[in-house]
Amino acid sequence: MIPQETVQQILQAADLIEVIGDFVSLKKRGANYMACCPFHNEKTPSFSVSPSKQIYKCFGCGRGGDAVRFIMDLEGLSYPEALKWLAQKYGIEIQERELTDTELDAQNERESLFIVSEFAQKYFSEQLHSGEGESIGKSYFKERGFNESTIAKFNLGYSPSGWDTFTKHALKSGFKLEILEKAGLSIVREGREPIDRFRGRVIFPINNVAGKPIAFGARILKPDPKSPKYLNSPETDIYHKSHIVYGIYTAKNAIRQLDNCFLVEGYTDVVSLNQAGIENVVASSGTSLTKEQVQLIRRFSRNITVLYDGDAAGINASLRGTDLILEEDMDVRVVVFPEGEDPDSFIRKSGSEHFKQYIEEEGKDFIRFKTELNLKAVAGDPVKKAALIGDLVGTITKIPDSIKRAVFYQEVARLLQIDEQILINEGNKLLRTAKPQNHKTQAPIVPPIDMPEPNVEGLKQVSVEELAIVHKEDIFVRDLVLHGHEVIEKDEETQEDVTLADYVLHEIGETEFHVPVLGQIFELYKKNYDDGRLLDTSFFTRHENPRIQKKVVDWLSPPYSFSPGWDKYEIYVPSYVSKLDDLSYKNILRLKKEKFEMRYKELSSELAGIENEDDQDILMDQMTKVKKVIQRLADQLGSII
Ligand code: GTP
Ligand code: MN
Repeated sequence: MIPQETVQQILQAADLIEVIGDFVSLKKRGANYMACCPFHNEKTPSFSVSPSKQIYKCFGCGRGGDAVRFIMDLEGLSYPEALKWLAQKYGIEIQERELTDTELDAQNERESLFIVSEFAQKYFSEQLHSGEGESIGKSYFKERGFNESTIAKFNLGYSPSGWDTFTKHALKSGFKLEILEKAGLSIVREGREPIDRFRGRVIFPINNVAGKPIAFGARILKPDPKSPKYLNSPETDIYHKSHIVYGIYTAKNAIRQLDNCFLVEGYTDVVSLNQAGIENVVASSGTSLTKEQVQLIRRFSRNITVLYDGDAAGINASLRGTDLILEEDMDVRVVVFPEGEDPDSFIRKSGSEHFKQYIEEEGKDFIRFKTELNLKAVAGDPVKKAALIGDLVGTITKIPDSIKRAVFYQEVARLLQIDEQILINEGNKLLRTAKPQNHKTQAPIVPPIDMPEPNVEGLKQVSVEELAIVHKEDIFVRDLVLHGHEVIEKDEETQEDVTLADYVLHEIGETEFHVPVLGQIFELYKKNYDDGRLLDTSFFTRHENPRIQKKVVDWLSPPYSFSPGWDKYEIYVPSYVSKLDDLSYKNILRLKKEKFEMRYKELSSELAGIENEDDQDILMDQMTKVKKVIQRLADQLGSII
């Protein structure tokens, strides 16, 4: 837990222009700054940052928020992690206490897993620098050519060869056996003492995007036919093998800067390339690539270069992974290393300059690669050739972008010397029969991390009438939040200023909203109003709840309509004038009137069921008051039509 004062201190210190400026180049345009959005690929800027409101908003992909949200989305961090990130940037100290036993117990499992993983990582690192670890583990890494700074950069380690050296140490340090087992660090079997999973192996910690260790890969030192070369942590609550790639934390900035990600197969390839100064590299760790892994990489670049080992058995089989990359609207190139070489051995032999040159020269777009790979095998065999064509067309149809598809049809037609139109017809046939979710008509945007965002939150089936109400509700709460403090009239009797908030909130009690987030915002606003506080928009744009935050950021960000080419002349047109104009004022009055009309109906049906005359009087009194309000609202509505 970060103390509330520290949170406020961080929020005060974090200047959005500075924070975002570290990642993208901002250009001043009027009161705001514009940039190409770091969350999706674009050539003309639609990412806008407001220094006065301390919010950003992308009109392309819809992302928006404050400094904390920006760091959360960009670095893939949780809310407290992003706060810590900002605290570090601004030199704000966060008092973190040593955890007591009971607190350690109370931590939920995920947190315990993070803690025990970090503990294990530190332990394995220390072991590499002393005793057995140094003489066996470190000399192994040295033999492979890894220097000290590389070892430190990847926190490489060593797990001692005793049966339970680590487990005993961890138990003594207060960790429960249960969590050691859950994390996959210890193996527990009936009737036996627990043992270390990784004993006698060198350790490659696997980090999440934020750089925290979440799992381990452990390599055997001497080949042993009875034991696998690599052992990995099992799946846990914090480690989903299919959602992470090895090296993403050290690679992400370079991937973004170079706008390309090298994908290799092994841990040692990643480490070795880094030592040679190539940082934009991650490993799939021997398993076939998943959609989630591709989406993770796509947060940093749309270009991926797959580097295959020269001896990779069945490159064709692993090539199926490229279809998956294509579906995510990424551009794929493929490089194969010479027979018997992997990226690690190749770069050690030839050096980084030659390595880069090799990739440059040998890299082929995947379709040419796939075609050339199979060309020899199908020569003179029409049946096989037909199968290959079908396969290639199938791959091309995975590309969401129709222009790119057209280019690849051309290329395949040329390489296989067949009529391009035949390919296109085949492809279209496939596209027509394919399931709709297989080809998106729009380029997919960055996957939401923690804000599932249905159009109208919480509404399943909406009628036209409901939609109209939802729209009015939106405007009602929007104007309250944006203009609540504005004076709209003077009280006839007291001559005091009446703010919009006074006007709207004075007579409205509990109100039901169709859209939950609007209800939440309204509740917050009203609760504070009742306590004598008028909330500022920044209260909401800094709110931890992403839905609340996004809603208000959207309200504060006029939807600029870009016309093609206009941005060249720096012309952009705000289509919503952020002043409480007649129209939205009228909407407020209307909504208010509707609510009172409903109240009136309720009261009159209540009246029908009451026999006691006194109670009837009270009710009728109330009804008269409500009727008066309705009349007054109707008058006002009439006067501004
Ligand atoms: P070195 O042989 O140390 O150079 O490792 P490498 O990274 O070149 O390994 P290799 O090309 O043989 O395998 C690529 C990746 O597949 C490795 O980094 C591991 O992630 C994974 N892998 C290889 N062998 C095994 C194994 O026996 N078990 C498991 N679980 N994974 C393996
Ligand atoms: Mn290798």
